[in-house]
Amino acid sequence: MKVIETIAEMRRLRQQLAEPVGFVPTMGYLHEGHLALVRRARAENQSVVVSIFVNPAQFGPEEDLNHYPRNTERDLALLQKEKVNIVFMPSVAEIYPVQFNSWVEVGKLTEQLEGASRPGHFRGCATIVAKLFNITQPTRAYFGQKDAQQAIVIKKMVADLNMNLEIVTAPTVREPDGLAMSSRNIYLNPKEHQAALALYQALSLAQKLWAQGETDAQRLRQEMTALIQKEPLAKIDYVSIADANTLDELARVKSPALVSLAVKIGSTRLIDNLVLQ
Ligand code: PAJ
Repeated sequence: MKVIETIAEMRRLRQQLAEPVGFVPTMGYLHEGHLALVRRARAENQSVVVSIFVNPAQFGPEEDLNHYPRNTERDLALLQKEKVNIVFMPSVAEIYPVQFNSWVEVGKLTEQLEGASRPGHFRGCATIVAKLFNITQPTRAYFGQKDAQQAIVIKKMVADLNMNLEIVTAPTVREPDGLAMSSRNIYLNPKEHQAALALYQALSLAQKLWAQGETDAQRLRQEMTALIQKEPLAKIDYVSIADANTLDELARVKSPALVSLAVKIGSTRLIDNLVLQ
């Protein structure tokens, strides 16, 4: 496994990789959700490139950029075990030199849900992912369903800008208690971890009610909201039932519908989702 910090070296070694090349972009502090993407990439490609880069451009001024968790040594040991060929770990200055001035805007899909709560987030996200695609030139890139809107936005960018690769979305990996794995779970103390189970419980409730025949989306949002509000440590940002392709809010549930939510547990903002289909 080679660990590379410069764009020039990444480009040079890319030429020597056996095709097809699978690529997994991450911000590090790896967990089983990331590793599931790496394993899928390993199974479906001859070569695997993983990037670790905490992208300042996708964090808002009030967000956790400065204390986003990092553990490079552990990350590299995990990736080595998965037989990754190249880990690309550039510095911020390598990716955003002072004169950097071009951005990727994906439009309406980035204005809803996470985009509404985190202005500029998807502009930063789409821009870094486009840059990483240009640098690593993958055949396929792997994204988690955990960040459903991100995967949808990246697919739209790839289609609109005729990028020559396939985007693969892999299922959300959860803790045995249902909590979706996230690098940010490290912020939760044991009481908060317990409280955070309300997210998955609310999603499961929506799924159950829908399976029983409930198609009134507002009723589902209300039931989910009521469940979460029983948890004193939880503060809802949004509870959404949207068309899984357009992300427009639905009045009647029609398949596939994306049920998604963002909830603050103490000072930690968590997201989760599932698709009704
Ligand atoms: P990060 O949060 O590190 O996530 C990297 C990838 O892992 C994303 O595709 C994300 O959806 C996936 N992932 C995270 N938790 C998961 C889980 N529990 N189950 C399955 N997949 C999971 O997402 C980012 O980084 C950044 O926005 C990035 C795409 C790297 C651009 O900076």
